Amino acid sequence: MRALVLGGGGREHALCWALDQAASVSHVVCAPGNAGIAEVAEVRAVDAGDPSAVVSLAGDVDADVVVVGPEAPLIAGVADALTDAGVPVFGPTAAAARLEGSKEFAKDVMVSAGVATASYWSGTSAEEAREALSGFAAPYVVKADGLAAGKGVRICGSRQEAEEAIDQMMVDRAFGAAGDRVVIEEFLAGPEVSVFALCDGTTTRILETARDYKRALDGDSGLNTGGMGAVSPAPDLPEAFRAQVREEVIDPVLAEMAARGTPYVGALYAGFVLTAQGPRVLEFNVRLGDPETQAVLPRLASDLGEALLAAATGRLADRPGLDFYDTHCVTVVLASGGYPGEYRTGKEITGLEEAASVPGAAVFHAGTRRDGGRIVTAGGRVLAVSGRGSTVAQARATAYQAADAIHFEGLHRREDIAEL
Ligand code: AMP
Ligand code: GLY
Repeated sequence: MRALVLGGGGREHALCWALDQAASVSHVVCAPGNAGIAEVAEVRAVDAGDPSAVVSLAGDVDADVVVVGPEAPLIAGVADALTDAGVPVFGPTAAAARLEGSKEFAKDVMVSAGVATASYWSGTSAEEAREALSGFAAPYVVKADGLAAGKGVRICGSRQEAEEAIDQMMVDRAFGAAGDRVVIEEFLAGPEVSVFALCDGTTTRILETARDYKRALDGDSGLNTGGMGAVSPAPDLPEAFRAQVREEVIDPVLAEMAARGTPYVGALYAGFVLTAQGPRVLEFNVRLGDPETQAVLPRLASDLGEALLAAATGRLADRPGLDFYDTHCVTVVLASGGYPGEYRTGKEITGLEEAASVPGAAVFHAGTRRDGGRIVTAGGRVLAVSGRGSTVAQARATAYQAADAIHFEGLHRREDIAEL
């Protein structure tokens, strides 16, 4: 089959890399891609967020399946446009993508489906929101309902800080319309785990678990980022965790989405907090995680192309479950100095080949571009370096050995990813 992948980050490089290795896939195209993706796929300079441009590209390249990496094209209706054009697409419709696009909607689905999550209040009046804080205790969690580029969640130590967060979102409209509704919720304490399910509307296949490291600096300090590293499987999980996630979260949510007339097709990302009372869902995303995907896919033994096509065409039930190698994988993100704040781009990257030649390592490009004969930085997160091993310590050593080979001006990475 011929696969078209939309997006241009580390997650999409890992998807293209795994599809390129799949026996069922003869050709991979990616739009817009990046310098690393160009080594495993044909890249096309098409705007992944423009539904009609994507439909014509899918026709041009004769795609048998389109795999949508990031959430923005989904929320813009790219999957709807492809479905209308008769092209199988791995990714939800805009209506189903509201599981990520609206926190209130996600909460409503969870409550209807009986999924364990933080208790919450939601509303559109700043005055009522301030009053609603009385129903909660510090630390207060205040969230803009809509998408706010990862900045719409505030964890506030005091009631005064929480009231300021409400005013910033609802009165000052710091995130525009995304903050016209806020969700206030119970604070959940415990380690976080990400679980991804491939869904075909009714049936799911759960991928191996991962943990990501969201803070910019060692010891989980500094600002929240898109993710500075990951490890798969997430450490210290009970044996039955994935089965529990399927039975108590993914299957009920799929049934609820189908009952609402918006069946869910694509990757469903459930973020959990492992509280003392048991796992609680923190959020859903309508895509795979980044950088967790770069730690999960190197462990996949099954054919990714067949699995994604089966999900896109409602045939997952006809297929066997997914197999994973019994290994560990650790991913270290190499970022531009200053990220997630301001940073410079256009810095030459060296050592990529040496890093990729480390046995067990894979180098995924996140923000890179080709500049003549050189590869230069082009984003905040620049590369994700993954290492596999039969123990976490070995996987970690491999990832850092490969990462040590790579240099660019201002390179910043965490030294404590997956440290035991
Ligand atoms: P989100 O933007 O929804 O991914 O949230 C960003 C981060 O905020 C999450 O990964 C958590 O670390 C934290 N967070 C969000 N909601 C809660 C909550 N109810 N309790 C504790 N931490 C939370
Ligand atoms: N790594 C977190 C995310 O992809 O949302």
